[in-house]
Order: sequence, then structure tokens, then C-alpha cells
Amino acid sequence: MNKFIQARTEEIKYHETFYSYNVLFEPGTWLAKPVKIVMDMLELFNHNEIQILDLGCGVGRNSIPIAQKLKNHQGIITCVDLIPTAIEHLIENSKKYDVHNQIIAEIADAELFLIKPNGFDYIIACSCLEHLSSVDAFRIVVNRMIEGTKENGINTILMSTEIEELDIETGEINEGLIELNLKTEETFALLQELYEDWEILFKRYLPQTIDEMKYGKEIEFRSNWITFVARRKGGIS
Ligand SMILES: C[S@@+](CC[C@H](N)C(=O)[O-])C[C@H]1O[C@@H](n2cnc3c(N)ncnc32)[C@H](O)[C@@H]1O
Repeated sequence: MNKFIQARTEEIKYHETFYSYNVLFEPGTWLAKPVKIVMDMLELFNHNEIQILDLGCGVGRNSIPIAQKLKNHQGIITCVDLIPTAIEHLIENSKKYDVHNQIIAEIADAELFLIKPNGFDYIIACSCLEHLSSVDAFRIVVNRMIEGTKENGINTILMSTEIEELDIETGEINEGLIELNLKTEETFALLQELYEDWEILFKRYLPQTIDEMKYGKEIEFRSNWITFVARRKGGIS
């Protein structure tokens, strides 16, 4: 099996199992609460009918709280995920939290998903772009995000880079089995280039570790976790 297919197969297996055993917003896992900066950026919008896109939305850790904020402002969030069961859980969660009218849910590979040009105020890719097939695909998707963003709109990208996996039992460290394992500096250089005309609002990386069950064993997922937020400059004011 080639490495991409192997990585994709394991990612799907991991997420399907994880989503079936863990409940959104229950303490103890990464589903416990939304990502602060993703939510904070919403405060920069003060108009109604905001259009948001969440690529690799999962079961709605960010999409559901965003939809709650949009509810009284006629906003809509389009939520895209590769895994059908993730979207099923997202739809259930949107009903549970009474925000189903704010959500459009789509099963799609972010790499193939065509973003409506100039269609969104805010585009989020939280743990999604490291699942693309190549650097070229990364460029294509980010360019679609850029083209899909309205004037003064925001893109928030969070992703793992320089991924390693520690086998807890043997202590062995291997390169992470992920579709796109970019170096941290390379990723920032790419983002800087792609967003050259934009205002960079926030940029940093932090080492992170997550305990996971993968390949039938306990592993520690290690990476440099990138946060990159940029705003498209507005027209002549
Ligand atoms: C770590 S989870 C994060 C989910 C969500 N963004 C969050 O922050 O809770 C990564 C998600 O990306 C989805 N994903 C992976 N590769 C994808 C792709 N190529 N296109 C769309 N979604 C993808 C997975 O199915 C999974 O739900």
C-alpha cells in the first residue's frame, strides 16, 4: 500500500472510532471545547448574514459554537468533512444544540471541494490541511480559500507539522504516518508567500502531544501545532 493510502486509511479509522466513542463537549478529549482563536476571530465581524466555511469540521467542535453565535444574525456555516459518519454526528449535534438551520453539511474531500469565489467572510481549516495529498494540493486548497474570501474576510489555519509518533510501549519514535508531514518553517514560508497581500493577524507554533490509539496500540502524537490567521485587505475606503 502506498504511504498516502496507508495514512488516509489510518486517519479515517482513527477518526471514525474516536467520534463513535467520544461525545462533543464532554471533558477529557480534544472535543471538550472549541479552539479559542477560532472563536475569538468571530468577534472581528459585526455584520449580519456572515458566511463561514469550516474545512475538516469533524463533529462540530468549532462549527456548533459558531452556529450558536450566528443564530441571531442570519449567518450560515458550511461544514465540510471527508468522513460520512463525522457529518452524521455533526447533523445530530446541530439538532441537539438547535442550530440545524445555521448549518449546511457536506461530505467532501477538502482537496476536491470547490469553494465559491468571494463566497465567505471567514474560512477555517482546523487540523485539515495536513491531510492533503501533496504540497501542490496544499497550494491549490489555500488558493481556493484565498479566492473564496470576501474583502476584510479572515482565514484561520491550524495544523500539525513535523509530526512524530512515540510508541508508548516500546519507546520507539517514528515519523508520523500522516498524508502531508510538512516542516514547520516550510509551512510558514508557504503561507507567507500565499497570503503575501493579506494582513497577518496571528502566527505562532507550539509543540503539542496527544495520546492516541492507532494501529491497535497506544501512541503519543507529537507535532508543532501551527496557528496562522490572516485578513484579506479591504478595498479603497
Ligand atoms: C483532528 S479532526 C478536527 C476536526 C475539527 N476541525 C475540530 O477542530 O474539531 C480532523 C478532521 O479532518 C477531517 N479530514 C481529514 N482529511 C480531510 C480531507 N481531505 N477533507 C476534508 N476533511 C478531512 C477528518 O475526517 C476529521 O474529522
